[in-house]
Amino acid sequence: MLIGIDFGTTRTIVAGVDRGNYPVLTFLDTDGDAHEHFPSVVAWEDGRLVHGFEALAAARAGAPHLRSIKRLLGEPTTHPGTTVRIGEQELLLADVLTGYLGALREALPEGAGPAAVSVPAHAHGAQRFMTLEAFRRAGFEVVAMLNEPSAAGFEFTHRQPRSLSARRTRVVVYDLGGGTFDTSLVQADGTSHAVLGSVGVNRLGGDDFDEVLADVVLEAAGRTRAQLTGPQRDRLLDDCREAKERLTPQTRRMVVELPTADGAGEPVVVAVDAFYSAASDLVARSVSAMEPLVGSLDKDSTVAGIYLVGGGSGLPLVPRMIRERFGRRVHRSPYPAASTAIGLAIAADPDSGFTVSDRLSRGFGVFRERDAGAGVAFDPILTREHPIPEHGEIVVTRRYVAAHNLGWFRYVEHTSVDAVGEPRGDLVPYAEVIFPFDPALQGSDGAEETERLAAVPVERRAGGPLVEETYTIDAAGIVSVRIADLTTGYAREYGLGR
Ligand SMILES: Nc1ncnc2c1ncn2[C@@H]1O[C@H](COP(=O)(O)OP(=O)(O)OP(=O)(O)O)[C@@H](O)[C@H]1O
Ligand SMILES: [Mg+2]
Repeated sequence: MLIGIDFGTTRTIVAGVDRGNYPVLTFLDTDGDAHEHFPSVVAWEDGRLVHGFEALAAARAGAPHLRSIKRLLGEPTTHPGTTVRIGEQELLLADVLTGYLGALREALPEGAGPAAVSVPAHAHGAQRFMTLEAFRRAGFEVVAMLNEPSAAGFEFTHRQPRSLSARRTRVVVYDLGGGTFDTSLVQADGTSHAVLGSVGVNRLGGDDFDEVLADVVLEAAGRTRAQLTGPQRDRLLDDCREAKERLTPQTRRMVVELPTADGAGEPVVVAVDAFYSAASDLVARSVSAMEPLVGSLDKDSTVAGIYLVGGGSGLPLVPRMIRERFGRRVHRSPYPAASTAIGLAIAADPDSGFTVSDRLSRGFGVFRERDAGAGVAFDPILTREHPIPEHGEIVVTRRYVAAHNLGWFRYVEHTSVDAVGEPRGDLVPYAEVIFPFDPALQGSDGAEETERLAAVPVERRAGGPLVEETYTIDAAGIVSVRIADLTTGYAREYGLGR
């Protein structure tokens, strides 16, 4: 069975493809109860790693654990060598993710897969690359990797095709997850979608609402966080999360268990209004992050609606505040937590008739040494509006006469460039390539070449060779480059993900 897997910060949700239906798959917890998610938790117990519900139970019993695999993947400095500590263990983040996805695969029904998977729209290249690698190493065949909001856009147009008209062809996807907030403008023409723009906040999600509720509970009880042990804080947050998820638009009061020293709990009653007024800042932050995309919504008649997805949109405060700001065109997914997974299953289903052309949500460019190494120039290669091809590859080619004995290229991703083309905001180092323009330096020693060339001083050279760089981007948004000296025919190919 084809599936869609939404690997989330707090929960991983899987939907299947079943003759035109896209059911959400269930997982059993340690008591044998079924849930429509697999917790994104890893714990160290009895000398081994455990995952999902087993890890959640181990964590509750005080085992060292990690709840933030995806947040760590999203850090701008994360690369394939990044390690993480779980208790005494120092492990490669990439291995932890592979182990987690392997456990997810074991927990799926026999024969589940191949899979469409997703990453946040603002994921940098290393995150895309490491996520894809981990799925493959865990034994999944990955048929597509989409940006999460594009997947949610599929779920919207599949479910509400009538909201779209010849004039109103755009949807703003508002995705409030456990740890991240993303909003994207999706162009939906018939069954073909394109993401026109996307902004994300890497540290805004449902988890933050749990933290706010915990503070409200502590204040009502006249206690402070410092008075709780680590495991007690975790239990309080778990209980806050459960109480928050039980809220309906009619709820007035909520009860949360505050852990006490004797191992029991003290029930604390708080007014829902008190929680909402403390949490409204978080929703307001999501609204201001949306402004660049929807600033002109009041006048813009091409937008069919704002679609609220992500488990965090299940909180009644969210649709209420978004409607206060944007009015009637706000719709909430009937399955906010599963919308992305369902959209991925639709994308994996060849019979659904949907296609997507995604766009890189970050620019991609290269720093080059200039003036014999005395300066650095930045060349944008792909802009953030560049489409990601649905299948196969598209190519950007550059030709120039080399002015040095060596080309030293440092590839980076950036969130934006300023007026003079210098990258601004987050920068993600991606790969470093040293290519010999001087024929005397063009050996065939493969892996050792970089080390050998790094020792050669950069010098200006007149009458250098004609060089061609060919950039290839695949359906997962991963870029590779082939650099060729067209004079001597010497050429090398470099994958820019590793
Ligand atoms: N009914 C509900 N009401 C309020 N919040 C809910 C509800 N159901 C789930 N949530 C919250 O949604 C969040 C998880 O959402 P979701 O599963 O979309 O996130 P994720 O995919 O794990 O994270 P991310 O998208 O950031 O990677 C959690 O904070 C959870 O408490
Ligand atoms: Mg999500």
